Amino acid sequence: MALRNIVKYGDEVLEKKAREVTSFDDKLAQLIDDMIETLHHADGAGLAANQVGVLKRVCIIDVGDGVIELINPEIIYKRGRQETVEGCLSFPGEYGITRRPRVVKVKAQNRNGETFILKAEDLKAKAICHEVDHLDGILFKQYVIRDVKESDLEG
Ligand code: CO
Repeated sequence: MALRNIVKYGDEVLEKKAREVTSFDDKLAQLIDDMIETLHHADGAGLAANQVGVLKRVCIIDVGDGVIELINPEIIYKRGRQETVEGCLSFPGEYGITRRPRVVKVKAQNRNGETFILKAEDLKAKAICHEVDHLDGILFKQYVIRDVKESDLEG
């Protein structure tokens, strides 16, 4: 495993659409393992492959109850609404209140290529929406309905 560099806002790779994964091989496993190490090192809730400079449809989520690996994810169901604070490892120190669905179902493959469907709520639903968007070059800023300063979060 190895830490990878997290790409920051301004790099065009963040605004590109990632390509579908078709080879479920050792190279993919290595990418995922590196992303997990990088996510935990950065203390984030999710990371998309674009953010480590790789245009493959791979993202991971960890909101504190274990890592979820999503390959070729597709959100197939959305319900409700949440307005909560959101940030991104590619936008250090920037936060905003975003509007997201409260419940989602995502269809994806695991690192062995097996398809599964996962239902998620609240923070996990928000994180899944955020990371799947990254794979389409979409950044959280466009969902911000109100800016929040970092100092407000700590008060
Ligand atoms: Co992000």
